[in-house]
Amino acid sequence: MHNPELGEVVYDRDGLRSVHNHEFMDDLAFQRAYARGVQAVGWDYQWHWRVHVGLWAAATAAQLPGDFVECGVNHGFLSSAIMNYLDWNRGDRTFYLLDTFQGLDPKYVSDRERAGGILDKNRELLDNGFYVSGVESVRRNFSEWPKAKIIEGSIPETLPQIDSGAIAFVHIDLNCSPPEVAALEFLWPRLVPGAVILLDDYAYNGYRPQKLGMDDFARQKQVAIASLPTGQGLLIRPPDRPPAPGTAAVAPAATMVIF
Ligand SMILES: C[S@@+](CC[C@H](N)C(=O)[O-])C[C@H]1O[C@@H](n2cnc3c(N)ncnc32)[C@H](O)[C@@H]1O
Repeated sequence: MHNPELGEVVYDRDGLRSVHNHEFMDDLAFQRAYARGVQAVGWDYQWHWRVHVGLWAAATAAQLPGDFVECGVNHGFLSSAIMNYLDWNRGDRTFYLLDTFQGLDPKYVSDRERAGGILDKNRELLDNGFYVSGVESVRRNFSEWPKAKIIEGSIPETLPQIDSGAIAFVHIDLNCSPPEVAALEFLWPRLVPGAVILLDDYAYNGYRPQKLGMDDFARQKQVAIASLPTGQGLLIRPPDRPPAPGTAAVAPAATMVIF
């Protein structure tokens, strides 16, 4: 626990060392949510500041209409913490939870990631239990929330099972770049203006291909991603730009109907 009275003023976990204020760790609602995340996994990743950002992003998105999506759920740490924090059963939103629930799909790994040893790492994470092997324990974890919709299988193949046209929050955490970018491409037109998108590994040490993929996406969409000291990336879905003067309501030539 953060306790300035006892001189515990330095946060030094999860690759982040900071003397800045982290009293969020003393907040009871934060502590309850964090503990629910630990319960989902069975151990503590010590990623308090990342979870703090995730809870802030989710609470901010909860001011908007729309459903929530997580791509990359694993045992369900962050999504369980969010559902506890927002008292999920009191609302009527769906939380879509997408994962293979058996590690990454080698089909959707980039050459650069493959060359960097991502498949060996995946095997190691499955063997040591960091990655969940099978969906059953995950279903049990989320059974207290009937509006959690678990979608099992590989992204991007499973994305069309997200049957919502209004999404307010997305957490992307697949630990590999191509399906992360594919997910954001798919979700972008379904996001409500102001929707909050949190990228778990955008700036995290050792995951640069994900940053490069998301930077390309952001350039195309003319949006900016904030690089956070936690290793996360944060962006907001802006409203669609109005068409430039004189171009409104002109259909593309290929779709024009001539009477
Ligand atoms: C770091 S974990 C997610 C952690 C989770 N967000 C949490 O709060 O603990 C990454 C997850 O991405 C999943 N994954 C990787 N590639 C995938 C793909 N192409 N389709 C679906 N799931 C994938 C893995 O199975 C793994 O569970």
